Amino acid sequence: MQCKRWNVNILLTGGNGYIGSHAAVALSQAGHEVVLFDNLCNSRADVPGRLGRIFGRAPSLVRGDVRDTDLLRKTLCQYRVDAVLHFAGLKAVGESVGMPLAYYDNNVSGALSLLRAMQQGGVRTLVFSSSATVYGEPRYLPMDEQHPTGATNPYGRSKLHVEEVLADLAASDADWRIACLRYFNPVGAHESSMIGEDPNGTPNNLMPFISQVAVGRRSQLRVFGGDYDTHDGTGVRDFIHVMDLAEGHLAALEFLGTNSGWHAFNLGAGRGSSVLELVRAFEQASGRKIPYVIVDRRPGDVASTYAKVDKARQMLGWQARRGLVDMCSSVWRWQQNEVEHKKESI
Ligand code: UD1
Repeated sequence: MQCKRWNVNILLTGGNGYIGSHAAVALSQAGHEVVLFDNLCNSRADVPGRLGRIFGRAPSLVRGDVRDTDLLRKTLCQYRVDAVLHFAGLKAVGESVGMPLAYYDNNVSGALSLLRAMQQGGVRTLVFSSSATVYGEPRYLPMDEQHPTGATNPYGRSKLHVEEVLADLAASDADWRIACLRYFNPVGAHESSMIGEDPNGTPNNLMPFISQVAVGRRSQLRVFGGDYDTHDGTGVRDFIHVMDLAEGHLAALEFLGTNSGWHAFNLGAGRGSSVLELVRAFEQASGRKIPYVIVDRRPGDVASTYAKVDKARQMLGWQARRGLVDMCSSVWRWQQNEVEHKKESI
């Protein structure tokens, strides 16, 4: 089935989630029409309303699962979708070790279902949410896109499998335009404080944990390892502001407007910062003390990882612009706003 297409309609699977919702802002502000597709398994139903308060009109939300090929195909047709940004997926590394089938089902079967729907609907432009986790243990730093791949857990392998499927698909049919964006460590929130990262339960990742300590929801941060071979002994990561990341998606989409085939890009700041540097930046941004205790290393963690970002700069004309304090102050405002919001709704 071929659909009549209109240039600026973009479907965001997982569009209600942390990264999808920020990408929706960047795309919408660039003049594109966005449609969100989400099963709400790790996001909130009020996100379209919040987006509406940022950019003036709430986007449509189709509530559904990416494994539902029929619903996807109908959605692509109904909204005359021209391109898809595929964010939907499970993303907790530890959980993936205990539930590999759920990860392969959601992430790999979900992607296959989406690709079938796109093929049937005549939509051939896709930006895929990949992860720097596809590189596995860093063999050299900074890591460029030529770094060998080899993920070390089911979550990472699910991302890598999808990247490989996408490369095969692009090789089989020259009409496909595919960008795999390998995210480093996205943090931060939109400046409006209407959207941000709000994980269910105890956060696995560093920034949400720090911000919950700052607002008093948790008593202290546990720093996993103080004896790494880094300048202060704590882990070093490439933190990137989620709005920089969102703008990277816009740049990738524009790139695909004139380039077919399969492409991979690192999206990071291109700079490593330690856990304690992030803690200090958060203290500076919030004016609050973040109590912490150094505990054992977390199994599976590496000492340092950060990106070489020259390819994205040269080919996408994109680079991260926002610094650590900016990342922390946006999270602080968002977290405080949420605390107020929750008080009001009690
Ligand atoms: C993790 C995932 C990665 C995923 C990314 C998403 C692992 C091994 N990797 O990356 O696949 O793409 O999240 O953002 O889980 N830390 C603490 N205390 C905490 C939490 C974290 O000290 O309570 C430290 C970690 O040891 C690490 C750094 O903070 O050194 C960053 O951790 P995290 O935010 O979980 O990100 P990654 O482990 O880099």
